[in-house]
Amino acid sequence: IKIIVETQDGQRVELETPTDMGLSVMEVMKANELNVPAICGGMAICATCHVEVLESGELPEMNDDEAFMLESLPHATATSRLSCQLRVTPDMDGLVVRLKPEAV
Ligand code: FES
Repeated sequence: IKIIVETQDGQRVELETPTDMGLSVMEVMKANELNVPAICGGMAICATCHVEVLESGELPEMNDDEAFMLESLPHATATSRLSCQLRVTPDMDGLVVRLKPEAV
């Protein structure tokens, strides 16, 4: 599937993404050398993988840790997610996310 990421400088990058490896969107971005610190390594406690979802189909539900973390972020929007908590599925083809200021 394809995932599209809008980077901090406003460019859109298309990422070819496998769905059978259990990767998170954060891991896919890192594997493609996008600038995502993801300091906590996917534990939902650092928010340096924060993205705003611009276009999507069905996404996995938020767990409490993710919801709690997003509540504390000044740049969060109604469609914010922690990309480390978004496990890639075939339903995510065409997902468009924008990297947020925490992810620098
Ligand atoms: Fe730390 Fe996602 S990598 S919250």
